[in-house]
Amino acid sequence: MIPESFIQELINRVDIVDVIDRSVTLKKAGANYSACCPFHNEKSPSFTVSPTKQFYHCFGCGAHGTAIGFLMEYQGLSFVEAVNELAKMVGMIVPQETRNPDRPEQKVMPGMQEALQRTSNYYRSELKKSASAIEYLKSRGLSGEIAGRFRMGYAPSGWQNLASIFDDYQAEGLATAGLVIDNEQGRRYDRFRDRIMFPIHDQRGQVIGFGGRVLGTEGEDMGPKYLNSPETPLFQKGHELYGLFLARRAIRDAGQALVVEGYMDVVALAQYGIEYAVAALGTATTPYHITKLMRQTDDIVFCFDGDAAGRKAAWRAAMNALPALTDGLRLSFLFLPAEHDPDSYVREFGKAAFEDAMKTALPLSQYIIQYLSAENALQSQEDKVRFLNEAEPILKQIVAPRTALLLRKHIAKLAEISLDEMHAMIKLPETSRRPPRALPRQTRTPMSVQRRFVQMLVMRPQLADEDDKLWLRGNSADDELVRSTLEVAIANPQSNPAALLRELENRVDGPILRTLEQEVHMLDDSLDFVLEFEGARKQLKDMYIQRESVAMLERIREKSLSELTAEEKQVLKAVGNSGSKNRQ
Ligand code: UTP
Ligand code: MN
Repeated sequence: MIPESFIQELINRVDIVDVIDRSVTLKKAGANYSACCPFHNEKSPSFTVSPTKQFYHCFGCGAHGTAIGFLMEYQGLSFVEAVNELAKMVGMIVPQETRNPDRPEQKVMPGMQEALQRTSNYYRSELKKSASAIEYLKSRGLSGEIAGRFRMGYAPSGWQNLASIFDDYQAEGLATAGLVIDNEQGRRYDRFRDRIMFPIHDQRGQVIGFGGRVLGTEGEDMGPKYLNSPETPLFQKGHELYGLFLARRAIRDAGQALVVEGYMDVVALAQYGIEYAVAALGTATTPYHITKLMRQTDDIVFCFDGDAAGRKAAWRAAMNALPALTDGLRLSFLFLPAEHDPDSYVREFGKAAFEDAMKTALPLSQYIIQYLSAENALQSQEDKVRFLNEAEPILKQIVAPRTALLLRKHIAKLAEISLDEMHAMIKLPETSRRPPRALPRQTRTPMSVQRRFVQMLVMRPQLADEDDKLWLRGNSADDELVRSTLEVAIANPQSNPAALLRELENRVDGPILRTLEQEVHMLDDSLDFVLEFEGARKQLKDMYIQRESVAMLERIREKSLSELTAEEKQVLKAVGNSGSKNRQ
């Protein structure tokens, strides 16, 4: 495991312009450098590299990242390989983290990542040795190449195989990583035994968990067909999509993503040349999943199993997608014949037939209408009331203006009422008035003062001040983000934006961080960041003080200086000018 502090130092030391210029000839363009994007076909350059932010970003295809990310994406390196490569360029030696028992436990255990990676390598080598596992994969129509691409493996039978690859089988990290189970007698054993292993990678290609399938068909004494890693600090099922790391390029090329239910579906589709498929991991599709995919594409097709369970999963996916909807997003649902899943379908009919079927996928709004009216005969008045009752929570969640309006109209028509009558009955949210699509996607949501402040902190961490913590109040997601960023900035005043964002990764939810990353990418490099920072700080401070401290200021005003508590004095100090403004 490479210590995080080293990675920070590395990102601060290398110059992304040098790194990229070795592979792609860059031309100076204002504050940035530009080139034709190496990640998609284009004639005029929309690929930019920012020396100040230490990021690259393509305005055409959305590819973006740090120097490390560039090497991973461009040269197909793993994270560790990319770090080694960069270290070589700047003459740094990559240290290995040694375990320090005195160090307090961190949220992500040191060594956990390494444990997962080492286990994955072990399972891979075991697959090569197991005739029965190889036979099984062959029986499912998978080539060695595809198994290799997905880094598939085999966990042999036996209870403590992992003891052979770890010096300390009792290490806490192995349990935290979900690789072993401690029974009630305090005996420890491997979680995965005699299973085909599917490593789950995060978007950087690092192993964060596993799914394991029994060989052969389900049997009574084999346990569940699929066993997955438990949730760990590294692995949150509701956030990760199986196959996304490998599928990213194909999703961009195809302009669409396919969401399926199972590991095998993803792998089998890839075997047949459909490489843009991902799977939710034994959970329902969540809004996080949708948001994550929306960063890659505007066109998402769901294809679940044809059975009753698959239909149920499709409806849940549709409902979970509602809050994430935008008018520019195309969500559709492909329903396979009842006896099929994507794996069996592509194997029987092939790629072309599968992609033809995808073209007939039902758009989300039609699916909703169809589902609701199939449930309700819409004959009697009672039917219509029930229909509207069921439609109400759905309509309430959609804020994308055009989608919302069309769906409302359609539902009103089916219930034989007017839109006005419907609005009188159901209190619906105001849809956003700004024209969809007219603005680039990064600015679709209005920018809060908090976010502006955070962006400027990322650009100029050295301007952060301990005293800023004093006036920071509030518990909204944005407030939390301000707090975390401020702390990270105070601790890393000399970091460049790329390094700072990486540091934030441990503290902030993935989706929030990705949005922030996008926002920072989009910042105009020619801005005076110091000035911008001061402006945002003043605005934010005033806002917090207005919002949170009015009551306290009331109290303070009635007291004489000697009566003030320590906290009140602090507030008074922090409030400074803004406070005296309130006093007038
Ligand atoms: P399916 O039962 O549809 O499996 O479960 P499948 O993908 O068709 O698998 P094969 O073709 O029999 O190999 C779909 C997904 O549900 C989760 C897994 O993520 C699986 O890929 N699942 C299923 C479990 O987590 N546990 C189970 O016991 C079964
Ligand atoms: Mn299947």
